[in-house]
Amino acid sequence: MAQINPSILSADFARLAEEAKAVEGADWLHVDVMDNHFVPNLTLGVPIVEALSKATDTPLDCHLMIEDADRWAPQYVEAGAGSVTFHVEAAAAPVRLAREIRAKGARASMALKPATPIEPYEDLLPELDMLLIMTVEPGFGGQAFLDIMLPKIRRTRELISKHGLELWLQVDGGVSATTIERCAEAGADVFVAGSAVYGAEDPAQAVRALRVQADT
Ligand code: DX5
Ligand code: ZN
Repeated sequence: MAQINPSILSADFARLAEEAKAVEGADWLHVDVMDNHFVPNLTLGVPIVEALSKATDTPLDCHLMIEDADRWAPQYVEAGAGSVTFHVEAAAAPVRLAREIRAKGARASMALKPATPIEPYEDLLPELDMLLIMTVEPGFGGQAFLDIMLPKIRRTRELISKHGLELWLQVDGGVSATTIERCAEAGADVFVAGSAVYGAEDPAQAVRALRVQADT
């Protein structure tokens, strides 16, 4: 079954605990960490992740859009994240980092920006629990979905099948009622949605509707 991960980036940051509770029933809560270096935006860090993990029963899916991922990612596991995604463009030693995240007890995930191809990383896939294909340039919510990423999603799904891996395939950016079916058809099974969930009148209902759409 498809997993829907609402992105807290589109929520009201002054009411994070309530906003997290508003989407209980979602599979994971997606938390976008930005450092104003890897991306031109600044959001939140370890102390807020720690507080959020205590405020909700929904497991946290931390997406680190930060430089020096090798140094910081393990701290997000300690802060309570159940899954930690680092960008391959920001990691000096992705295999070592994925192993460290797993050893600390979280799911290890690696993200690719739109211009980063999957092919050079085929041999790393068994080290990961999830691969994230960005369907917008990372940095901001509410951007338009990049259709040109669909072939990369498809090729990645083929690699996962070829190697018989359990790896989850996540898409993030511009995922909505109008784009989720294309992503699912291309082979994604974990869907991040920010504005499509928090922009809706009933965020919990938006999560359920997206899940039904992705599963059809
Ligand atoms: C963008 C973030 C996304 C963002 C998605 O850099 O990684 O998680 O919140 O927002 P929407 O779903 O509005 O594109
Ligand atoms: Zn994200």
